[in-house]
Amino acid sequence: MSRAIYPGSFDPLTLGHLDIVERALQVFDDVVVAVLLNPRKSPLFGEEERVAIIREAVAGRLGGDAPRVSVASFDGLTVDFARGAGAGFIVRGLRAVSDFESELQMAHTNRKMSAEIDTVFFMTALEHSYLSSSLVKEIATFGGDVSGMVPEGVLPRLRARGGAPSV
Ligand code: PNS
Repeated sequence: MSRAIYPGSFDPLTLGHLDIVERALQVFDDVVVAVLLNPRKSPLFGEEERVAIIREAVAGRLGGDAPRVSVASFDGLTVDFARGAGAGFIVRGLRAVSDFESELQMAHTNRKMSAEIDTVFFMTALEHSYLSSSLVKEIATFGGDVSGMVPEGVLPRLRARGGAPSV
């Protein structure tokens, strides 16, 4: 059985992230979406909310494949989480060349720390390749419409923070 983890901040999950989960399920038997609790960042959404958003979106969008996805949060090193989860692979999405440099550095570093865990990259679908959680938050802060960028469940949550139009 092949298991991958898909680590990230997911603050919040975007349709681009969801696309990567779907694509990873075509390659791996199951995928653990791993939400990083980064003490150096102050996320807009807390741990429980980020996890809840991902669970809802996976259940709502992935249909019969949803049981192959689990969601967890972690702190510390991604490779340690992967090992603990029994995963041999780390999945990351590449949107553009600009992502490549830092992703390459992370992949090499992770492999140096843990040679048995490999990183697999998926090219984010073209229609989502411009998306980022940071841009979504910025647009929502100024009242812009992010409805085509994030799963439905994110919209009321952004609104509750005063950051999305009430369409
Ligand atoms: O969604 P993000 O913020 O681009 O995800 C970055 C993430 C979580 C994959 C990365 O910061 C990470 O793996 N952090 C955990 C700490 C760690 O393992 N650092 C060494 C990786 S080189």
